[in-house]
Amino acid sequence: MGKDDFFFRHIAQTSPAPLHIQAVSARGVYIRDEQGREYLDMVAGISVNNLGHGHPAVIEAVRQQAERHLHLMVYGEFGQVPQSEYARALAEMLPPALSTVYFVTSGSEAIEGALKTARRYTGRYEIVTFRNAYHGSTMGSMSVMGSDRYTRAYRPLVPGVRVLPFNDLSRLEEITPRTACVLVEPVQGEAGVIPPAPGFLETLRKRCDETGALLLFDEVQTGFGRTGRLFAFQKYGVVPDILILAKALGGGLPLGAFISSPEIMRSLSHHPPLGHITTFGGHPLSCAAGLAAFRELIRSDVMNEVEQKAELVRKKMQHPLIQEVRNSGLLFAIDLPNGETAEKVVRRALEKGAISDWFLFREEAFRISPPLTITESELEKGCDIFLETLEEIRIGK
Ligand SMILES: Cc1ncc(COP(=O)(O)O)c(C=O)c1O
Repeated sequence: MGKDDFFFRHIAQTSPAPLHIQAVSARGVYIRDEQGREYLDMVAGISVNNLGHGHPAVIEAVRQQAERHLHLMVYGEFGQVPQSEYARALAEMLPPALSTVYFVTSGSEAIEGALKTARRYTGRYEIVTFRNAYHGSTMGSMSVMGSDRYTRAYRPLVPGVRVLPFNDLSRLEEITPRTACVLVEPVQGEAGVIPPAPGFLETLRKRCDETGALLLFDEVQTGFGRTGRLFAFQKYGVVPDILILAKALGGGLPLGAFISSPEIMRSLSHHPPLGHITTFGGHPLSCAAGLAAFRELIRSDVMNEVEQKAELVRKKMQHPLIQEVRNSGLLFAIDLPNGETAEKVVRRALEKGAISDWFLFREEAFRISPPLTITESELEKGCDIFLETLEEIRIGK
């Protein structure tokens, strides 16, 4: 029996047909399988591996931290250097109001913590969220998803959630003095890369200020240079009350965070204390890896090159089957005529050696979100594989 059989026999599956390559190692923009075949990674583990795989600075930080210590105590009791240093490094790059970091283990947990903080701080319970938002898979984060298809089977959901259409300014009157918070992805990811309409985020900010609701930005997918700026909100000049991060935050290790002001964050630690507790939140290995990746991202030219690389993809991805190309930096949705075509493209491109993926809420699109460190020639190679695949599908091969 090969190792492959164990994957299907003993690993719980999330779908009837996983992409399933038997990955054994990864370096830079390539993932290698058991047979030694190399795959060009055009999705970066869904916007996680922004510096590619096995970056030497990250590996070295993990090695050194592993020799110092691993888990010591539940989050929040002991000072741990990787946590404190990473929190300080993040605060230095953020507006002054975002200076206090609560580290957790994942994006979903960061959303849970942020929603709880908003309810505690405001004393209100209503949460406004948007259609086709993806914020995670735990009960609370799933309840704010704004998609009936994926949540129907798990009802009753967390109560008090109001779902509005994204980018529709006419509905923002529904944010009222009863609203605890408005949770939004500044650029919607799983909806198929939908940037905010002009004035949308500004109006959200204004409406939150008028009503006393907190504004929460979920930058789990858009953070750490993905959109060409360190965080997408910096593109639009709108500062949230709570910023939610994960994915690339940990440099390839599991890590999430929600970041706010000391005053807002204080509501979790007083009357009663222990408003959110987590054993592994801010694990020292994850913080060491994340900090090393973060420093490298800031130090290098990687973020400055995002727009130029994105332009290359926009120019390359032209084909009769392509209906629309949407992007924010190196986060791309390529719209095709239907879901069946998108399904075929991802699977056939994988056979040809390029990894891509679909979107949760846009079945007719496929995703390109490579490591930001990808070179222009590697990008061209990836795009060529997608174009060749599209052409084969078009001619019915
Ligand atoms: C925008 C956004 N928020 C939250 C999450 C949930 O993060 P996690 O899978 O780490 O729980 C995701 C994951 O894809 C995401 O894209």
